Amino acid sequence: MNRREFLVASASAVLAPKTVLGQSKALRPSVTRQNLVGAAHPATEIWGYNASVPGPELRFRQGQRLRAEVENALPAPTTVHWHGIRLPNAMDGVPGLTQAPIAAGGGKFVYEFDLPDAGTYWYHPHLGDGEQLARGLYGALIVEERDPPAVDRDVVWILSDWRLDREAALRRDFASAMDASHAGRIGNTVTVNGAIPEAFTVRSGERLRLRLINASNARIYGLNFEGHEPWVIALDGHPVQPHWFQRVVLGPGMRADLILDCTGDPGSRHRVVDDFYRGRAYELLRLEYRAEPRLRAAFEPAPRLAANPLKEPSASAEVQLIVLGGGMMGEMPDQRSHKGVFWTLNGKPVSRDHHHGEAPLLSLKLGQSYRIELVNRTAWHHPMHLHGHVFRVLSKNGKEVLPRQWADTVLLDPDSRAEIALVADNPGDWMLHCHVLEHQATGMAAFIRVN
Ligand code: C2O
Ligand code: CU
Repeated sequence: MNRREFLVASASAVLAPKTVLGQSKALRPSVTRQNLVGAAHPATEIWGYNASVPGPELRFRQGQRLRAEVENALPAPTTVHWHGIRLPNAMDGVPGLTQAPIAAGGGKFVYEFDLPDAGTYWYHPHLGDGEQLARGLYGALIVEERDPPAVDRDVVWILSDWRLDREAALRRDFASAMDASHAGRIGNTVTVNGAIPEAFTVRSGERLRLRLINASNARIYGLNFEGHEPWVIALDGHPVQPHWFQRVVLGPGMRADLILDCTGDPGSRHRVVDDFYRGRAYELLRLEYRAEPRLRAAFEPAPRLAANPLKEPSASAEVQLIVLGGGMMGEMPDQRSHKGVFWTLNGKPVSRDHHHGEAPLLSLKLGQSYRIELVNRTAWHHPMHLHGHVFRVLSKNGKEVLPRQWADTVLLDPDSRAEIALVADNPGDWMLHCHVLEHQATGMAAFIRVN
C-alpha cells in the first residue's frame, strides 16, 4: 500500500471526537457511585467530575481557549489543576498559592485560559493530599494538533488504582504514615477509564493513537504490548522523535502518546502486561482482534508530530541543585519530631497546604534559562513535577536521554540523578513537587518563583 492509499484508508475510518471543540465546559465534582470491578460486585462510592470516573474527556484544538465553570458539590473544598498546561498562574489551581479553595457545598470558580500546546494532559484537584484523586477525581484534557496525524482511532486510557475492600468499598486510610514514608498509597485494583478492563477490541490492520495517562496516586506502570511494536510519538504531551520501545514506564502524572499498529491476525489475542514492580507482573488487559479481515497489510512509519512552541533553553545555563531527601531507609528530615513529615527538598520539608508565606525553593529570573540537577538521595522513586513550564530532560545519571524529550514530570529512580533545563518564561509562583501524592503531602513539595 502506498502512502496515498494509506491516508485514504485511514481518513475514512477516523472517528469524530466525542466533544465539541472550544465550548465552555461545566465541571461538577460530587459524591456518586460507580461500578469499578464488574457486575458481580456492588458499586463503589466514589467522587467524580460530572458523576463519573474518569470525568468528562475535554477536547480542544491547539490555540483554543478553555473555559470551565466548576461548581463544587463535594463535602470538601477543592480546586482544579490542569496538569502540564502552560497557563497564567492564577488559573493553576493550587490552593493557598494561586487561589482560595473552592468551598464545599456549592462554591464556584471559573477557569479560563488559552491552550498553547497540543498534546495529552489531564485535570485533577490540587489539595495538599491525595485523597480526592484516590476517590476518583481526574479526567483527560486532550489538545488536538491543528493538523492531527491520520489514525483510525484516537483512544485515551487513564490508568489508576484503588484500594478496595471485599465489598468493593474504598478503604479510607488516606493519611497512612506507612504509605507516606514508603512508596505511597498503591492500590490493589487497577482500572482503565474507571473500570477493570478485560479486553480491548481491535481490528487487524488498524492504526490507533493511544494516549496513556497515569492518574494513580503512587503506582508506576511499565507496560509491555506483547506481540506488538508500538511507537512513542509524544511524552507528557510533547512530540518526540517516534521510536519503538519494549516497555513504556509511566510514573504518576506522566503521559505517553503511542501509535499502536494492530499487526496481529484476525481473531488473535495478545496480552498487555504491567511488570513495573519486580515479581508482581499482571495482565492489565488483552487486545482482542475481531474476526474481520485486515484493514491494511502494511504500515507507514509513525508520523512525527509538529513541535509545540517551546523555547529551547540555552546550553550555558546556570545550574541549580535540588536534593531529594528522607523516607524510610534513608536519613529522615531533621524535623523528625515534626509529626507527619517524611521528605525534604534541599533539606526543608514543606507540609501540605503551607506553601503560602514560605520562601520559594528557587527564584528564577523571567526569560532566563536554567539547568536544574535533581539528586535523589532516597531509596524510593519520585516523579517530580513542575507547574506552568515544560523542561528538557537532558540526562539521567549523567547519561544523555535520547531521543531528546520535553516533560513536565521526570521520574527519578532510587539513588539517582536527573538534569533538566528550562526557560523560566511564565511569571508566578509554581509548584515543584513529587507526584506520589503521599510524598507531596509529607514534605516533598515546594514552589519556585519566576519574576
Ligand atoms: Cu498533577 Cu501539582 O500536579
Ligand atoms: Cu516522591
